[in-house]
Amino acid sequence: MKTIIEPFRIKVVEPIRMTTPEQRRGLISEAGYNPFRLRAEHVLIDLLTDSGTGAMSAAQWAGIIEGDESYAGARSFFHFEKAVQDIFGHRHVIPTHQGRASERLLCAAVVKAGDVVPGNTHFDTTRANIEATGAEARDLVIAEARDPENEHPFKGNIDVERLDETIRSVGRERVPFVLVTVTNNSGGGQPVSMANLRAARAVCDRWGVPLLLDCARFAENAYFIKLREAGFAGHTPLAIAREMFSCSDGALMSMKKDAFGNIGGVISINSDGWAEKVRTHLILTEGFPTYGGLAGRDLEALSIGIREILDEDYLRYRIASTGYVGKHLSDAGVPLLKPFGGHAIYLDGRRFCRHLPDEQLPGWSLSVALYEHVGVRACEIGNVMFGRPSKDGSGWDWPRLDLVRLAIPRRVYTQSHMDYVVEGIIELFGVRETIRGLRFVHRPAVLPHFTATFAPVEA
Ligand code: F0G
Repeated sequence: MKTIIEPFRIKVVEPIRMTTPEQRRGLISEAGYNPFRLRAEHVLIDLLTDSGTGAMSAAQWAGIIEGDESYAGARSFFHFEKAVQDIFGHRHVIPTHQGRASERLLCAAVVKAGDVVPGNTHFDTTRANIEATGAEARDLVIAEARDPENEHPFKGNIDVERLDETIRSVGRERVPFVLVTVTNNSGGGQPVSMANLRAARAVCDRWGVPLLLDCARFAENAYFIKLREAGFAGHTPLAIAREMFSCSDGALMSMKKDAFGNIGGVISINSDGWAEKVRTHLILTEGFPTYGGLAGRDLEALSIGIREILDEDYLRYRIASTGYVGKHLSDAGVPLLKPFGGHAIYLDGRRFCRHLPDEQLPGWSLSVALYEHVGVRACEIGNVMFGRPSKDGSGWDWPRLDLVRLAIPRRVYTQSHMDYVVEGIIELFGVRETIRGLRFVHRPAVLPHFTATFAPVEA
């Protein structure tokens, strides 16, 4: 059989409200042409993020009832610790309320002003937390990752020669750790190969620098290794994940992705000294070390979710269903980032809207048009998110790519939802010259995409 079906059946449903294009034009105008400012109930299919938006299983919901809400030493913590340790294998397991809390706690504990933290591509909150300490977050992804058409199978790989060179030039004492993100979200959800992790490990060993993973989507990465890297076809995703983590001294995770959590995070590390420092900070802002800002029921649901995510039938379906959207769009000539990522498909805003100059925000305008046309909410990762007024005041510095991410929540939408998304985007592509450009009305200086407002550019 060629057809890959959703490996679950649906026990609880949540209605989505139909809207007309005319209603949506009114709603997005009221929202200042910013999809983040829409009410979620006015969105038909929400592809803003795959973070915290997954559907929990019956077993996870049963775990919610079983959750032990004791302040200290709750049973649910020990379930959580065991589940994480069984896959990650590090000595200390410290729960946090989400990924960026893990980042902030670790950075507060071990990063100082003047340090440099090399990585493949740091996620925005990771970069912000590193930079908040006065350190520099340096991206060293391989050159192939910069070309949206390049089909390299592991475009998330870190350039190990540049890593070695960076540690040499910066000096070992200014590099607290190296952080490799699996899969590489900011680079298009692209995986990192086992060979690359081992090579990064060897460089880190040579310098005595710890290697950490930002492993929000570790299971998708493990499955890509199984599919694409020689020698792994016969291995289980669990065995591959364990091998990935065996290359590391620790990991930070947003458990809102590959742990099927609606909330949650973790810091998992070997170093006793680092664990003690992290726990000291944790008590100040997150809570006691056996709950870390989560309820016992969350810990229970996460300890079940992190096992479920490694189910091979699920991962086969997950990677195939994302690829399904990518393939159908690509076959219709829609310009997108290749190869297709694990959790998302990224449309190329500039090539989709060739009639719009950068100043008219092609990716953002495309995301607004997509909402108006079919009620699908996507997230621009381009000119609005990363564009900055140029230092000399003469104009703007635009990012290399102006993308629109269609992030697919886990176990939430069916194939017919995805068929609707594909059809809508292809239809819009057919009338792409009608997409109106937008200009800023209000642009906050920090993280402008969340709250900025816009207006259509008059023809
Ligand atoms: N690291 C990666 C690779 C991420 O993708 C995210 C979140 C974080 C860290 C931060 O985790 O949200 O739990 O605090 N990514 C979401 C996204 C927000 O939409 O890609 P968090």
